[in-house]
Amino acid sequence: MMTIRTPDALTASPLLEWYDRHHRDLPWRVSPPMAKRGIKADPYHIWLSEVMLQQTTVQAVKPYFANFLAKWPSVSDLANAPVEEVMAAWAGLGYYARARNLKKCAEAVASAHGGIFPDTEDGLKALPGIGDYTAAAVAAIAFNRQAAVMDGNVERVISRLYAIATPLPAAKPLMRQKVALLTPAARPGDFAQAMMDLGATICTPKRPACSLCPFNGSCEALALHDPEQFPVKAAKKEKPVRRGAAYVAVTADGEILLRRRIESGLLGGMTEVPTTAWTARQDGETTTEAAPFEAKWESAGTVTHVFTHFELRLSIFRAAIPKPIQIDDGWWEPVTNLEAQALPTIMKKAITAAIPLAFKTAKG
Ligand code: ADE
Repeated sequence: MMTIRTPDALTASPLLEWYDRHHRDLPWRVSPPMAKRGIKADPYHIWLSEVMLQQTTVQAVKPYFANFLAKWPSVSDLANAPVEEVMAAWAGLGYYARARNLKKCAEAVASAHGGIFPDTEDGLKALPGIGDYTAAAVAAIAFNRQAAVMDGNVERVISRLYAIATPLPAAKPLMRQKVALLTPAARPGDFAQAMMDLGATICTPKRPACSLCPFNGSCEALALHDPEQFPVKAAKKEKPVRRGAAYVAVTADGEILLRRRIESGLLGGMTEVPTTAWTARQDGETTTEAAPFEAKWESAGTVTHVFTHFELRLSIFRAAIPKPIQIDDGWWEPVTNLEAQALPTIMKKAITAAIPLAFKTAKG
């Protein structure tokens, strides 16, 4: 008798079999062959990678992950690190509140838990800076708990499997329910990682490779002949634009004027070149009027950066001066030492606009 496969009959087995053969080898991952040899996931590695992977690609995360482990091999080492060093090592990954929370979480694990991560979703969620996603991911991947892990990749896969017509973000609770139903009691960590790998390599946003998908016999979106229409997204609002100016001053000896941003607010505590407030006013400052001292300031163009809640357009000005000028709230740093500073991406863009090779000549 012919059986028609529907998503109700869907189980995790085909995906786990696919994962056994096609999993990606990632530096923090215990792959199925490693697990067979008795190797266990290190909760510190899993936690660190999952925090880094939020909003950032696997390729971008790899060097940061290696650098963090080289500097701080255990969660207690990270707990004892100066926060400025952690911020500097994080610079470029974005969402800097995460670096601060990372350190707070490491401190809590080191002091309240003797350096050992709690092994349940609830225990993990009680730690500072650990939300629903990270708690579920660490519980499943590091501790083999049957937790429903849902990130952007998983949302796409699940929305296609069940042809979920409700737009995101309203569809999230339904999607989470579907993920929870599909998550197996055995190998829940591999299941979570397999869903992510499937989303990253097969069930891609554009031109998904359905012919290679282990779910292609039961995917509702494929049955509708247009998987790319899922996930349905609510119409996007345009991001507001903010404007400002930033000033790159360089001495004849190749030193650059830097400042530290105030602790609170956007990019709090990070390093910057002097900049005006970033304002949504139409007449936001984009001139040399607010420069830190008088000099021959020349335009070095405009750089833009998209933050979560606005797009920033910074007018860049450059001044070459013979020697450092005493500035109360700043310091002069050799350009060759810029990699060691906690400079967020927008500031690296600003400096590069004024000094194109600034980060090529740095010792790194
Ligand atoms: N993205 C976020 N976490 C991941 C993981 N554990 N494996 C693959 N991709 C990921």
